[in-house]
Amino acid sequence: MSLIKEPVVIHKGLDNVYVKESRICFIDGEASKLFYRGYSIEELAAHSTFEETAFLLIYGWLPTAVQLKQFISKLSANRPLEDGLLRLIREFPDRSDPMDVLRTAVSALGLYDSQPMTDENQLRIDKAIRILAKIPSIITAFDRVRNHKDPVTPKEQMTHAAEFLYMLTGNEPDPYDAHVMDVALILHAEHEMNASTFACTVTASTLADMYSVTTSGIGTLRGPLHGGANEAALRTVLDVGDPSKAESYVVDALAHKKRIMGFGHRVYKTWDPRYLILKGFAGELAARKGQSALFDTAVAIETSARKHLEGTPIFPNVDSYSGIVFHMLGIQTDLFTPIFAMSRTAGWTAHTIEYLENNRLIRPKALYMGKVGLPYIPIESRTGKVEE
Ligand SMILES: CC(C)(COP(=O)(O)OP(=O)(O)OC[C@H]1O[C@@H](n2cnc3c(N)ncnc32)[C@H](O)[C@@H]1OP(=O)(O)O)[C@@H](O)C(=O)NCCC(=O)NCCS
Repeated sequence: MSLIKEPVVIHKGLDNVYVKESRICFIDGEASKLFYRGYSIEELAAHSTFEETAFLLIYGWLPTAVQLKQFISKLSANRPLEDGLLRLIREFPDRSDPMDVLRTAVSALGLYDSQPMTDENQLRIDKAIRILAKIPSIITAFDRVRNHKDPVTPKEQMTHAAEFLYMLTGNEPDPYDAHVMDVALILHAEHEMNASTFACTVTASTLADMYSVTTSGIGTLRGPLHGGANEAALRTVLDVGDPSKAESYVVDALAHKKRIMGFGHRVYKTWDPRYLILKGFAGELAARKGQSALFDTAVAIETSARKHLEGTPIFPNVDSYSGIVFHMLGIQTDLFTPIFAMSRTAGWTAHTIEYLENNRLIRPKALYMGKVGLPYIPIESRTGKVEE
């Protein structure tokens, strides 16, 4: 029984709880719509670049040519890693999960900023750009080092997406692959008050620095119910292996109350618009790369799952095809969530900057259901479990 006398409503999972006003992102989960700063995701995917989209999210407007050039130059200038950070990355065990590496390296990045704490908006933006620029360098440096290769020095004049693929492989990427990567980054850049963005906002509300904010986001994104779902969805497709086995997999999974990864969403109760865009690219990539069997298996799982989930609001989400796209781009599976973080940093930092314009410490409550006033028990009399 609770000691609180007035009626209390617990919003477990914080479903439908609004924590702030925002001008960054709008999702209409019933109508399959997603807007960044008022622009539809379809328009941005068709016409924008990740750099432009990140600028839009952080500053609030689409950049002019001059503003975009300056933004791209700042990203380029910030991409090389500090020697100390590179040395640190070289010291990490090869078997480390890249998300753990990213979380640790972004935290360490703050040590190389002589003034991580700031209450100036422009300096916050500069730090956001610095972190945004460094994350692809961190991810690729670790991947190279664990594969006993030297990190690749970033080239200037490449898009963020192409630069990432270049630093990963050491080869300039095929322009189509770079374009698909660019679109994937746009699609993952922002998604309103999701779990990791909320974690960032909580951290920001204490007036902590941007590195602590981003580290909170990375730690929260790491879980399989959030960032890890695309890895799990790809693993499912690879395990199923053939379109003919999709139906029995889905029937068995649902009978055992297992979740189909890449399906379901807290906000979308219909098609995730990002899924629709990525599925198109996955189909094209499969045809170009001769990987139709993989794509066909994913489509068969999707078709079968939708058939069995008919009448429910459980539809495919962005993760049902993002892992497949990254896989076909030749990217190792455990880098998918770090790539998500690399993109979502734009949204995390945009929300941080917005929230701090009108900050209030986030401090909710927990309804205490325990006892009070228990007599202190001498160590020799304790039972070693919760006292009755
Ligand atoms: C994302 C997710 C956590 C959102 O779930 P949610 O809004 O909290 O919904 P709940 O967990 O309350 O699930 C509601 C019902 O739908 C079912 N459900 C939800 N997602 C499901 C899925 N992917 N496959 C099968 N059933 C699912 C649940 O089993 C539950 O059924 P029940 O009421 O009979 O117990 C959930 O859909 C999920 O785990 N999906 C798989 C992971 C994933 O793809 N995550 C990426 C999100 S972008």
